[in-house]
Amino acid sequence: MSMYDVEEIRSDFPILGRILPNGKPLVYFDNAATSQKPNAVIDAMSTYYKTYNSNAHRGAHTLADEATTALEDARESIAAFFGATPSNLIYTSGTTEAINLVAYAWARKNLAEGDAVVLTEMEHHADIVPWQELSKEIGIELRYVPLDLEKMSLDMEAYKHALPGAALVCVVHTSNVLGTRNPIEEIIALAKASGARTLIDAAQGASHERINFEELGADFVTLSAHKMAGPTGIGGLLIANDALAQCGPFLTGGQMIRSVSTDGSVYRDGAALLETGTPRIAEAIGWGAAIDWLSKIDFDQMHDHIKALAMMAYEGMREIDGITLYSDPSRPGSSGTISFLHERIASDDLAMLLNEGGIALRTGQHCAQPLMDALGVASTNRISLWLYNTEEEIQSFLTHLRMVCERFGA
Ligand code: ALA
Repeated sequence: MSMYDVEEIRSDFPILGRILPNGKPLVYFDNAATSQKPNAVIDAMSTYYKTYNSNAHRGAHTLADEATTALEDARESIAAFFGATPSNLIYTSGTTEAINLVAYAWARKNLAEGDAVVLTEMEHHADIVPWQELSKEIGIELRYVPLDLEKMSLDMEAYKHALPGAALVCVVHTSNVLGTRNPIEEIIALAKASGARTLIDAAQGASHERINFEELGADFVTLSAHKMAGPTGIGGLLIANDALAQCGPFLTGGQMIRSVSTDGSVYRDGAALLETGTPRIAEAIGWGAAIDWLSKIDFDQMHDHIKALAMMAYEGMREIDGITLYSDPSRPGSSGTISFLHERIASDDLAMLLNEGGIALRTGQHCAQPLMDALGVASTNRISLWLYNTEEEIQSFLTHLRMVCERFGA
């Protein structure tokens, strides 16, 4: 697509034409939770199940060959999209499992009591709890970089103070609550200069900008397919060669072994050590199809489109009495995710009232309680936009929000 044609993009997503039970057309603003899926993904998975469903890397028959080829072709497309080689992409169930994999297979083997892991107050629980567990188990120190509340960004001065002596730096690429895109290039450079390895949680970032693993130079990048037009149940870990060579096993059982006897087992090396049991075949095929579909999108045009919509929403919401905004979509790289609250309408009630207007948004802590604590709130309402959203949807959202606030927020 040379010009950004939102109607052409929308026509690939059957769900976007849905009329809800109350007669309202769906306005889907919950893309940070999960994106919708284009026909290409739905069809690729359906074709697998209808015509060559089989286990991969196991059978000696035509279907098994076809399934194995499709699984590995998908790995090639996905790795190439992220500027990585296929042997550096480990399929996981998503970002949560990818971070747990790093905590168990790499950190457990390479960190010791007193080693410091730098986290931030902006992290998703998936990038906090595995480290807390490891801290309980082996006594690593956890350092949290605070938020700069004026800018809704990380306090980079505090970051610099947290780095000396750290062994690992884990940071979210783009906040699922604020939409803030963190300066990960600067953070990776600072971490490298102080001798720390780096983990980038790109669950949100990967659907908003092209991430090149090689150029980025991080040791670990974690991905979730379902937030980038792919299916649920799959994602990945991009892992640098030297970090991969330092890993022990994660899940143990079939597929990750070279040989097993009643006396013990010999494990495989590299990525094969870290993929256990029957692979996620349909899901990998679906993710590969999503990547092929996304490869046709100009990400710069997509970003401009989302930013224009987010600014329209932001400016409109700023004019509504009683609304407090916790995001700044004018910041460079911001993902079009906007958190907000009404001072007199509880967030759950507001979400329910907006749902009456067909608007799908998320409310709650967004799996980011330390960030809620830093903001001094118990929850937020959140809209999160993606490439198929339209001006008409923003106007419909603002009209409905204004009406709800006038009627229930006085
Ligand atoms: N972490 C996802 C979200 O932000 C589920 O909604």
